[in-house]
Amino acid sequence: MKVIVFNGSPRSDGNTAICLNVVMDELKSAGIETEYIWMGMDKIQGCVSCYLCAKNKDKKCGVKTDKLNEYLEKMVEADGIILGSPTYFADTTARMKALIERAGLVSKVNGDLLKHKVGAAVVSVRRAGATHVFSSINYFFLINQMFVVGSSYWNLGVNPNTSEPELIKEDKEGIATFQNLGKNMAYLLQKLNT
Ligand SMILES: Cc1cc2nc3c(=O)[nH]c(=O)nc-3n(C[C@H](O)[C@H](O)[C@H](O)COP(=O)(O)O)c2cc1C
Repeated sequence: MKVIVFNGSPRSDGNTAICLNVVMDELKSAGIETEYIWMGMDKIQGCVSCYLCAKNKDKKCGVKTDKLNEYLEKMVEADGIILGSPTYFADTTARMKALIERAGLVSKVNGDLLKHKVGAAVVSVRRAGATHVFSSINYFFLINQMFVVGSSYWNLGVNPNTSEPELIKEDKEGIATFQNLGKNMAYLLQKLNT
């Protein structure tokens, strides 16, 4: 079993990366393989509404100038998908939104390519707006007929200090939420694969 993990933060070692690692550690302890992709400075553009994906029905985005199709292929191959994003003006980062728009449309017009996979959102935030990011990511999972995993709180980690990501570890409830999320995701994946 494999979970593909995307970090939509432009910071490679920021708060979102730390939160994602907490979840991945739990998955690894449960024997589940993870692949981590930091989208970083990849220039993933938003959907251009060409509908080539609907016309061609080849499970690919018609825009082939960036890594979207590579990312989508990894999603399709995986049993689980984790999308991690910082909160940017109460929503996902633009690159995460671009991934959602394009992977979402290609999936939908090809008969829901992501159907029955397990999805989890991981959100980091300085102060407010994280539940909206959580919703944005979960809408993507849910419209694709995926199973969304919950935790002991909504999946968000809070760090009031933007320049010191390590301090997110002081959000004990947030860290426990991500540990539980990893455990719950492993539990669900194992049940689905028995
Ligand atoms: C462009 C931009 C917009 C942001 N908007 C918000 C916001 O709406 N609410 C908030 O609490 N923090 C906001 N932040 C702070 C980040 O969400 C927060 O520091 C996050 O944990 C950073 O994650 P990272 O270290 O993985 O990049 C914003 C930061 C940037 C750069």
